[in-house]
Amino acid sequence: MTFHVLITDPLSEEGIQPLREAKNIHVVVDTELTPEQLEEKIVGFDALLVRSQTQVTRSLISKAKNLKIIGRAGVGVDNIDLEAATEHGIIVVNAPNGNTNSAAEHTMAMIMALSRNIPQAYLALKNHEWNRKKYVGVELKDKTLGVIGLGRIGSEVAYRAKGQRMNVIAYDPFLTKEKAEKMGIGCGTFEEVIQQADFITVHTPLMKETRHLINADAFAKMKDGVYIVNCARGGIIDEDALYDAIVSGKVAGAALDVFEEEPFHEHRLLELPQVVATPHLGASTVEAQEIVAIDVSRDVIRYLNGEPVKNP
Ligand code: NAD
Ligand code: MLT
Repeated sequence: MTFHVLITDPLSEEGIQPLREAKNIHVVVDTELTPEQLEEKIVGFDALLVRSQTQVTRSLISKAKNLKIIGRAGVGVDNIDLEAATEHGIIVVNAPNGNTNSAAEHTMAMIMALSRNIPQAYLALKNHEWNRKKYVGVELKDKTLGVIGLGRIGSEVAYRAKGQRMNVIAYDPFLTKEKAEKMGIGCGTFEEVIQQADFITVHTPLMKETRHLINADAFAKMKDGVYIVNCARGGIIDEDALYDAIVSGKVAGAALDVFEEEPFHEHRLLELPQVVATPHLGASTVEAQEIVAIDVSRDVIRYLNGEPVKNP
């Protein structure tokens, strides 16, 4: 029996090699489908592999009569209707560990770009403007970094920030004082952390409990001149509230890798000089993309061949 696997977001070619090499698997890569075209095409496929761009909706799942498994080459599964998948007996696997380092490194790059105005100064220089006065930054040393969500990526960011000699405090519902002490960081309630931090970085999943976790109320409690970083998911920060907080001067700057709606070509936050941004590149390294694609490919092969998945 041959199983048919559809890949609808760009995945590492090396990473999907295990699927191509499997004797009983036929792989189709089509990353240009509209949602309507995908709903027509999905019938007949046994597995679907995605990154964050393909929206695996209830409507799509209802058309996927043969679908047995959805593989998410990455961490966040907020683009997949898990309830609908479960109702249809489709399992969902992801690759929770493969891009942790890359996402943490990107977060640190964003914090440093933000604190030293590197993208703005680069752009000015490219436009023949030599201006040292305008791009004076702030040091990270002795500043307090507030980490909201101390899971895999949040923890790696905390360790790296300590390397920059920042004071780190974190809020996570599962964080104990003992664990924080062991990591050499502080911990507090959500309010305590956002009140004390000079830089705030969010690393929670996007769920109904974390949607607009950083909203107008939260901004009001923060220090004046705070810096905000989001390399987790658009929607954790209320973009309208962030815009207002930057314009009012409450927030000194923001570094954003993720947005409430992706992809886009125009965004009013990007018109603000205090905002540095990347187009969802947190996990976009050669290493991470290869690992996450290999991890989900192997799980898909296991599952289609009747073996238990590992969700490594
Ligand atoms: P994780 O599950 O290891 O960590 C998430 C942490 O958030 C957990 O410790 C959890 O207890 C905590 N949390 C849950 N609700 C919370 C709340 N209300 N307040 C504070 N903390 C809360 O996940 P991870 O691997 O660290 O990834 C985190 C998120 O980062 C992913 O869900 C994904 O959306 C995003 N991500 C983005 C990129 C990117 O390319 N920008 C790359 C990888 C992951
Ligand atoms: C993730 O959740 O893993 C990230 O969004 C990375 C990605 O798949 O682009």
